[in-house]
Amino acid sequence: MYEKSLIIFKPDAVQRQLTGRILQRFEDAGIKIHALNLQNADRAQAESHYDEHKDKPFFSMVVDYICSGPVLVVVFGGLGCISKIRSMVGATEPAEALPGTIRGDFAHQVMIKGGDDPLYNLIHASAHAEDAEREIKIWFADDAVLDYTRIDDAFNGA
Ligand code: PPS
Repeated sequence: MYEKSLIIFKPDAVQRQLTGRILQRFEDAGIKIHALNLQNADRAQAESHYDEHKDKPFFSMVVDYICSGPVLVVVFGGLGCISKIRSMVGATEPAEALPGTIRGDFAHQVMIKGGDDPLYNLIHASAHAEDAEREIKIWFADDAVLDYTRIDDAFNGA
């Protein structure tokens, strides 16, 4: 099934000038860009995005982190792309993320439980279709998400 997924290049990805290299990985995999916006996340937007974690101890840390600098927010699309993108991103904790994944290749942070540092794991990717639909609405107006034909759609089964 054709799916859309919400990806956030977090402030560390922007600050470390990794956006181009990471974006390239998704384009190389045949994943289509439907929307892309460099913006500052406002707090309400960030809190709504991470709402399911509002009772977790790291909630304010992850909200502060995502609001700490510009983020590049993207809607990607492709057949079955949500799980493909999640496997390209890798495990939440960079030190656990396998080589070949984005977090595994570009970060190596060990999570200190109860520590003061956020997990600088570069990128967020929707976990499943319902999350993707909810998250896309938080970050983009309906008419900012473009549907279009790409020259290689046939090769990607789209
Ligand atoms: S859980 O408990 O399994 O539901 O949580 P998890 O899926 O591991 O993480 C949910 C999101 O919170 C981020 N996270 C953190 N960010 C900053 N600092 C700390 N300590 C931290 N712990 C978890 C984690 O990266 C997930 O966000 P996204 O944006 O999806 O990566």
